[in-house]
Amino acid sequence: MSKSLPKAERLNIRKVKELLQTAVLGRRGLYFREVTSTNDIAKDLVNESKSEGTIVFSETQMEGRGRLGREWLSPEGGLWFSVILRPKVQASHAAKLSLFASVAVAKAIHRLYGLKTDVKWPNDVLIDGKKICGILTETEIKDQKIDFAVLGIGVNADFEVQALPANIRPLTTTLKHQLRREVQREVLLSELLKDIESYYHMFEKQKFNEILEDWRRLASFLGSDIRVQTDGEIVHGLAVNIDNEGALVVRLEDGTMRNITSGSIVAISDEQHPEHVDE
Ligand code: BTN
Repeated sequence: MSKSLPKAERLNIRKVKELLQTAVLGRRGLYFREVTSTNDIAKDLVNESKSEGTIVFSETQMEGRGRLGREWLSPEGGLWFSVILRPKVQASHAAKLSLFASVAVAKAIHRLYGLKTDVKWPNDVLIDGKKICGILTETEIKDQKIDFAVLGIGVNADFEVQALPANIRPLTTTLKHQLRREVQREVLLSELLKDIESYYHMFEKQKFNEILEDWRRLASFLGSDIRVQTDGEIVHGLAVNIDNEGALVVRLEDGTMRNITSGSIVAISDEQHPEHVDE
């Protein structure tokens, strides 16, 4: 396990610091070989230091958490980290935190490796239709404002798909698998932080339309028939758009529109109906 991880395979913090081009994000951070969940450590830290931009990174997580109460497996070689943000923004905009983070991750990966990346509502990043990154954002609200947010980001970076259980392999990919070579996690982490910081500035300035437009451009599932698992039911219909609050807009078979605020897309048909996508 991570306690025996050879030094050469651990994240080189000095190199990350040298490469970092951010003003705030990642300038302070904590590095662990193994934690329960980086989101939990980050949340504890907020209460102590209130430090915006601090990142918590771990080589592995024993209790990594995904959205909707799911487990998140975190083998060595991944990028498992959480960033503390303290935006002075109304709580009603909290859903857009995950949206901007997924756009930032998708863009950084595309720029670095030339791989085509997509986003899948609400905040998965995909390559070849398979998940390369998941994001779990947890917020604390005070007086109807965001008191703090912990942006938990998991990128399947420098490990083989075989490190994951057989049942999730068909839905998952890794950068190492896509590139057929090793991935320099220090470079990837510093580029991710750069893009996350620049989208965070947009978010703070409430440039939500620009964020949503960038997200829509990367959302190639829009215009496809989809199935969405929501609270206790599966919704089937055409993915039309996301609305200005980040809810998924689906046209049901009877023609009615449904705005879904929480759930996961469980299937996307290959057939596209682009003429139905809202502009
Ligand atoms: C999802 O797709 O369901 C979200 C996965 C989020 C995983 C990351 S890894 C770093 C941070 N710590 C956690 O326990 N989860 C997030």
